[in-house]
Amino acid sequence: MKFRIIYTFFTLLALALLLVNNSAGPAEVQGLDRTGSPLSIGACQLCHNSGAFSPSPVLEILDGGNPVNTYEPGKTYKMRVTVNASGGPAGYGFQAVALSGAGNVQAGDFKNPGADVQITPLSGREYPEHNKRSNSNTFEVDWEAPAAGTGDVRFYAAVVAANGQDGSNGDGSSFLGSPIILSEVITNTAEANELPGGFTIFPNPVASELNLRINPPTQGEYQLRLTDAKGRTALSRRFALSPGEQVLSLEAGHLPAGAYTVQVAYGQQMSSRKMVKW
Ligand code: HEC
Repeated sequence: MKFRIIYTFFTLLALALLLVNNSAGPAEVQGLDRTGSPLSIGACQLCHNSGAFSPSPVLEILDGGNPVNTYEPGKTYKMRVTVNASGGPAGYGFQAVALSGAGNVQAGDFKNPGADVQITPLSGREYPEHNKRSNSNTFEVDWEAPAAGTGDVRFYAAVVAANGQDGSNGDGSSFLGSPIILSEVITNTAEANELPGGFTIFPNPVASELNLRINPPTQGEYQLRLTDAKGRTALSRRFALSPGEQVLSLEAGHLPAGAYTVQVAYGQQMSSRKMVKW
């Protein structure tokens, strides 16, 4: 008898949670990435799949109102997700994430969520998402770009255009077919930021093995990065170095022929050299 009451109580509680809570974002309610990123196990259309309103997401990173496709490390931008839809939906929802590296780690920091937006932490990452069905089809949140040496940042987003009937039935959704990619601006102009001692590379042009002669003044982790002529990261390594002159060797034989920039960064200091691969 007692057990039946307890059982009924928990069943009702579970049902109530399922029905009541979903109006907030899926990171909070379901504890899941639904953005369509490599971390997603199904995006919003797993449930919101009627095809109504044909929504499509537009994700922009804005600098003083203007969309950018590069970022300066440490600078704050605004991320705006717009849900373009037809047929007059009653409300909107979204989820987004910013990732970098092969490990899909959190890139940068989201802060100051705008109207109807919350930032939900999940598995060491931050998910900006709706905190209720929104009447507005735009969602905004500040994004502070990550530290120098992070490389490309990939933004993923999924959206729902809802019929306002507090369920997933009759709603439409979609996600970005490919992520919005921001590349890192190489800020090697400021003299103050030059790596003391810099470094030299040889041979140049290089055919297979690239050597770097470096004389680090401090012990620490140095980041080495090769970018191609389009600013895309071709190679990225971290070295734990002790002070004193030394030569680092890197296999470069697999790189496509062309012009590259070799960067070595330590904290906020960075030096770069031009290199040609043939
Ligand atoms: C596992 C199923 C499931 C997934 C995946 C899911 N939702 Fe939902 N969603 C629901 C359910 C169930 C409701 C209704 C519950 C409620 O309103 O409290 C709901 C409600 C909503 C509503 C309010 C709908 C209305 O008409 O009132 C919005 C907006 C919404 N979800 C957006 C999203 C977005 C955006 C995503 C993806 C990033 C998403 N949902 C992923 C199940 C899901």
